Amino acid sequence: MTDTNPTSGSASSPSLENLLHETRSFPPSEEFAAQANAKADLYEKASADRLGFWAEQARELVTWNKPFTETLDWSGAPVARWFADGTLNAAYNAVDRHVEAGHGDRVAIHFEGEPGDTRTVTYADLQQEVSRAANALTALGVRTGDRVVIYLPMLVESVVAMLACARIGAPHSVVFGGFSADALRSRIADAEATLVVTADGGYRRGAPSALKPAVDEALAPKEGAPATSVQKVLVVRRTEQDVDWVEGRDVWWHEALEAADPVHEPVAVEAEHPLFILYTSGTTGKPKGILHTTGGYITQAAYTHKNVFDLKPETDVYWCTADVGWVTGHSYVVYGPLVNGATQVLYEGTPDTPHRGRWWELIEKYKVSILYTAPTAIRTCMKWGDDIPGGFDLSSLRVLGSVGEPINPEAWMWYRRVIGGDKTPIVDTWWQTETGAIMISPLPGVTATKPGSAQVAIPGIAATVVDDEAKPVPDGGGGYLVLSEPWPSMLRGIWGDLERYKDTYWSRFDGLYFAGDGAKKDEDGDIWLLGRVDDVMNVSGHRLSTTEIESALVSNEIVAEAAVVGAADETTGQAVVAFVILRGSHANRASTAEGAAEVQKELRDHVGKEIGPIAKPKKILVVPELPKTRSGKIMRRLLRDVAEDRAVGDATTLADSSVMDLITAGLAAPTAASED
Ligand code: WTA
Repeated sequence: MTDTNPTSGSASSPSLENLLHETRSFPPSEEFAAQANAKADLYEKASADRLGFWAEQARELVTWNKPFTETLDWSGAPVARWFADGTLNAAYNAVDRHVEAGHGDRVAIHFEGEPGDTRTVTYADLQQEVSRAANALTALGVRTGDRVVIYLPMLVESVVAMLACARIGAPHSVVFGGFSADALRSRIADAEATLVVTADGGYRRGAPSALKPAVDEALAPKEGAPATSVQKVLVVRRTEQDVDWVEGRDVWWHEALEAADPVHEPVAVEAEHPLFILYTSGTTGKPKGILHTTGGYITQAAYTHKNVFDLKPETDVYWCTADVGWVTGHSYVVYGPLVNGATQVLYEGTPDTPHRGRWWELIEKYKVSILYTAPTAIRTCMKWGDDIPGGFDLSSLRVLGSVGEPINPEAWMWYRRVIGGDKTPIVDTWWQTETGAIMISPLPGVTATKPGSAQVAIPGIAATVVDDEAKPVPDGGGGYLVLSEPWPSMLRGIWGDLERYKDTYWSRFDGLYFAGDGAKKDEDGDIWLLGRVDDVMNVSGHRLSTTEIESALVSNEIVAEAAVVGAADETTGQAVVAFVILRGSHANRASTAEGAAEVQKELRDHVGKEIGPIAKPKKILVVPELPKTRSGKIMRRLLRDVAEDRAVGDATTLADSSVMDLITAGLAAPTAASED
């Protein structure tokens, strides 16, 4: 299978520069187009009757206990109700119906632990295990509507726990295992969860790392914090590490499941019943609990998974490298693939353990045909060199996906050439925790793909780029990305804060969903994403809030003021750079190189404790002042100039224009604290 693109040809390793210069787009091969799930007429079908189109997807891809009669109720805008009079169960759709259709023996999950242990889980196995877990949760007092927090590494149990919650109609809230005890505590409190599922630990970078101590700490009484609502903690045994045990509260997962019946009747819930809450960073310090409901969400997760990745459940082996702690793991490890009956790889560890070819080794081993990952990972592998993937047979790959941040054309080309053997379509998929599923992406077999551009809204979705006055920009123009029609998997609000939902997404432009991303349209009308236009950073495809990290820094007694920016970073897209003013005598501590290094370590650890290791600033610069406007707003643009080693831009709106000179002069001295 090769592309028919006349310019890319199969010339051996042409220089990247030439490729970028010559290659504007890669049309699908005839062979791929002929067998693709998506055909070009999908766009026309969807635009001719948008609601009819979604109703058809919902009927075709999802099994309903009670069929819906109304597709969309938008009378309560901006809170949508999709398929609202229908009832269904998400776990039944993801598991049982495949068994009932005779596919019980199909592998649902090829699990690969970091140490190399493996486990094969068929759909029939999954049905039994999810049923046991659902019975165990019920026995532990969880009722339909109760919230369950899941804080686990990437294990089969993570998928099982999520589906067990869905099975009994208890919304799950998965908290990424890299978040700290404090971050976990605030999420548990906000969701008022009654049960937490965790593990003794997991394997990471060749060693067991502990997880349960963070749960113990998050649930321990804390002065000033309300008592926790959590009654029970279910603990998966993964690493055999010693754990502290709270009698009456803590229960081993394996014991609870062994004691539970392997048969369970899934609870049919209304389409608008909450399926999960997932916390994500916003522009203020407090993470937002993004609420997703059942029917619309699984419809769009399944529809996009089928068409954007061209999934053929009988023959494909799919692998999404995202952690279930992020939305990509929800929609494209759990719900999308399983509702479609896919066979997938689930890998616990990091790409470089025990060696830098681990991912490619897994692709060869399981004959992975569809790979979905993030630009940061691609750029990292690119840095490690072509030889590493070159040592493995990657010829099984036929579709490659990218998500989480803009993918630069160089990385896109490398991904296609080195990983995709110069033949695979690449789907650059734009979406958000809030959108629930993919919104903008090429369709393989239909769209001629373009390095660096997510291109077009998928059929059924209305996305556009507008200027400050909400007017659509012409081709060639830039502005803000907005979504102009409700979509099935859209968030239904922010948990417990409807006003914040309206404010954040619907107040900027009347009747349009404001995504917070800058975008431009090229001469062909294709969309290019340009990054966030708000105070949200994107580090390795993970969303971090500048304000949240600033709050964490100033909560340390040695910090008087802090400003955080996302500085361009070759590998991680953006990197967290913090500027801090130290309190009184502490400022002197930073006046020697060793002292500054010490202060920096202290503050990085502090941020790690407050939020999690992912939020630790890469650089902390101790400064005497921060650049502020007359109204007291920090001018991050100027700090970004400093962080990115550029000449400082226009500083005339500063209250005190000499501040930037002070900052840059101070940083030129050898005392500036920096990690590298
Ligand atoms: C960014 C991840 C450019 C964007 C699914 C968005 C992207 C934020 C892309 C959401 C892409 C995601 N190209 N930027 N293909 N995909 N983003 O909620 O800024 O973790 O608003 O969801 O990531 O991040 P989130």
